[in-house]
Amino acid sequence: MQISENVSLRERNSFGFDIQAEYFCSAHSIEEIREALHWRKKNNTELLILGGGSNTVFTRNVSGLVLHVAIDQLNTKKDQNDSVQIFAGAGLNWHQLVEKTVFNGCYGLENLALIPGCVGAAPIQNIGAYGKEVSDNLIQVEAIHRETGESVTLHNSDCDFAYRHSLFKTPAGSDLIVTGIQLELSQQDNPVITYQALQEALSNNTPTAMDVFREVCQMRTAKLPDPAIIGNAGSFFKNPVVPRQQVDRLREDYPDIPVYPQSENLCKLPAAWLIDQAGWKGYRKCGVGVHDRQALVLVNYGGGNGQRIATLADEIRTDVKNRYGIELEREPVLY
Ligand code: EPU
Repeated sequence: MQISENVSLRERNSFGFDIQAEYFCSAHSIEEIREALHWRKKNNTELLILGGGSNTVFTRNVSGLVLHVAIDQLNTKKDQNDSVQIFAGAGLNWHQLVEKTVFNGCYGLENLALIPGCVGAAPIQNIGAYGKEVSDNLIQVEAIHRETGESVTLHNSDCDFAYRHSLFKTPAGSDLIVTGIQLELSQQDNPVITYQALQEALSNNTPTAMDVFREVCQMRTAKLPDPAIIGNAGSFFKNPVVPRQQVDRLREDYPDIPVYPQSENLCKLPAAWLIDQAGWKGYRKCGVGVHDRQALVLVNYGGGNGQRIATLADEIRTDVKNRYGIELEREPVLY
């Protein structure tokens, strides 16, 4: 394990912002993570854990140690009863894991194709798309405590999973460094096709998991900018969940607003629609802007920085609040 000084994080954040880490190291094993934690204690520096950097917006240089978790172990065990147990190290690329499993006849992750970032980030924000969330197939999370270096195993029910939420986003879990996840997949090709757009696109045959994988890749490629080409962190805001009464009032002014009922009293609204109707889609200023095919995605067109992204996000939040009385909640982490 090597600690380097003054390292550019340009290639390590999906906005492509050119910021510096005072100290940087990549840890390829739990032992290396422990060594880095020890070094950090001895040198009394701050600590930032980084996976793929696809959900972090850097607004300044990082003082202290950036610890990149690069554990890339992958174990697959097929059971006789059709299930498959997978252990995936936190440093593996998420999409490559999805692709590998689907192509090896292990199904369950196909709806989550092309989500940027590493495996370690998946449980933290409970990544989800096209009708599935990682928590649907997750058995347990392996982590270590950033102060004590102790190993911890959290079962699915310990993780407090919800829409784009988990224990790891709360004070009770923020001291844990995810080192890997245990997933249960299936050898039976039984894809989930509840998401309307997916249903419509695959309506002519009996779709396989591979069909879902290909369709999701196609949909995402058509709508979402590739962070390797245009810097972005995917959805910048969560879809708000609001009381049904508020939706009924909004419908009087906006009869076309799409509504996804969550329970008797709560509905989810698409933040993209609210931002789009407010006229922000395609907006550009000072090198940053709102993507022209998906209003939920803020982008770095080149020359932008994290502060400009944060300012743009504040302007959008204020406008949405004034127009609809709805508070948008940010999804990526601001550093
Ligand atoms: N819409 C607009 N304008 C836009 C984009 C969308 O009006 O620019 C409307 C659409 O017409 C549709 C609704 O908003 O009625 C929902 O759009 P979409 O199906 O594209 O999904 P989303 O709610 O905007 C969520 C996730 C995405 C995920 C898709 C598919 C969140 C915050 N975002 O987006 O996740 O890929 O569903 O499941 O839940 C991500 O997290 O980075 C991400 C891309």
